Amino acid sequence: MDTVTRSSTVAVVGTGTMGQGIAQVALTAGHTVRLYDAVPGRAAEAARTVLGRLDRLVEKGRLDSAERDAARSRLRPAGALADLADAALVVEAIVEDAAVKQQLFAELESVVPEDCLLATNTSSLSVTAVAAVLRRPERFVGLHFFNPAPLLPLVEVVSGFATGDAAADRAYEIAAAWGKTPVRCTDTPGFVVNRVARPFYAEAFRVHEERAASPATIDAVLRESGGFRMGPFELTDLIGQDVNEAVTRSVWDSFGQDPKFAPSLAQRRLVESGLHGRKSGRGWYAYGDAGAVGRP
Ligand code: NAI
Repeated sequence: MDTVTRSSTVAVVGTGTMGQGIAQVALTAGHTVRLYDAVPGRAAEAARTVLGRLDRLVEKGRLDSAERDAARSRLRPAGALADLADAALVVEAIVEDAAVKQQLFAELESVVPEDCLLATNTSSLSVTAVAAVLRRPERFVGLHFFNPAPLLPLVEVVSGFATGDAAADRAYEIAAAWGKTPVRCTDTPGFVVNRVARPFYAEAFRVHEERAASPATIDAVLRESGGFRMGPFELTDLIGQDVNEAVTRSVWDSFGQDPKFAPSLAQRRLVESGLHGRKSGRGWYAYGDAGAVGRP
């Protein structure tokens, strides 16, 4: 399997929260980056967001303006999957739904070169199950970034049942070359972080549902006394309530609906109401341009 070098093209499919962050990481590592999203116009919008973030890095003196200009010329929104034909690596960051991911990868396999590495950013789904539809599942791997991808160093490199050693090695090397801290793990529900983190969210939501304390109080307690950088309510607003709930359901189902991982009713109501967190302007908290402005 060929290595992915700085001159290789990286394709990011799904240009929401994570796709934008991963695209920024690949772009600043020197790659040509193609962006594709199923919703027309969203890839171009994501490209503008990524470039806006690079502008802010230049303003803060953390990125050279010549590098920003070069990055701008390497970022290419794509109108169709067929435009990803020169990718050496595809990182998928679409909706957390195994059937939708399978369909995408089955289509991608007929578009990209034979030696292209295929990676999913899934938080919790079985890498093995998504790969099952592929002709060549040995080149498929989990490459799980954390939010915000440009800032958080950890990347879980997940080997499914059929993932070849060459693909896992390559994914690990790419993450390391991008300045990340990759760790290897096998394909268990939620991998390491999202399994261990489930009770962090679930127990906090239960405390709130029992009206023992408000989200702001629980967040403050965990931040200020617990030493966490963010409390569970503000963190799930950043992640996206829809995404976080889908991950909980996936882990819960994988463990035979063990009550330990049961989804929260209050979070379900947020998702049903379209209150998905920062990306929709409101979740547990309400957001304005300056950040959190109100509480539920
Ligand atoms: P998001 O909802 O912000 O973005 C998903 C994007 O994928 C949307 O723009 C949507 O139009 C697009 N999309 C959906 N179906 C598609 C398809 N069939 N083909 C192409 N584009 C499609 O979601 P987010 O938060 O970026 O999550 C993406 C993936 O990353 C999920 O698997 C999630 O579990 C995982 N993840 C999310 C994290 C988070 O904190 N939000 C952290 C780490 C992983």
